[in-house]
Amino acid sequence: MPRVTFSRTGNSVDLPTNSSLIDLEDSRDNEVPFGCRSAACGTCLIDVVSGMHNVSPKNEDEQDLLDTLDLDGEKRRLACQCVIHGDVTIDPQS
Ligand code: FES
Repeated sequence: MPRVTFSRTGNSVDLPTNSSLIDLEDSRDNEVPFGCRSAACGTCLIDVVSGMHNVSPKNEDEQDLLDTLDLDGEKRRLACQCVIHGDVTIDPQS
């Protein structure tokens, strides 16, 4: 079961394999704010501190919003668009 660790607090949430990070919302320990859930608002912006190889590639909608907001970068992702296959450490940016 993949573990999502929040880098600033060290808290973590376990999610089933192939979960979307949106599923964090079901946990009381979630530290990622979500808004639109559809790559339109940028509220769920995170940096993937480690485990990027366990995160699905950026889809077109995610890339478009990151480009529009001029927030693209190796570690920058929209949590609402990420599916995870293993452990990740993330840093919410909102
Ligand atoms: S929740 Fe709006 S972009 Fe992810």
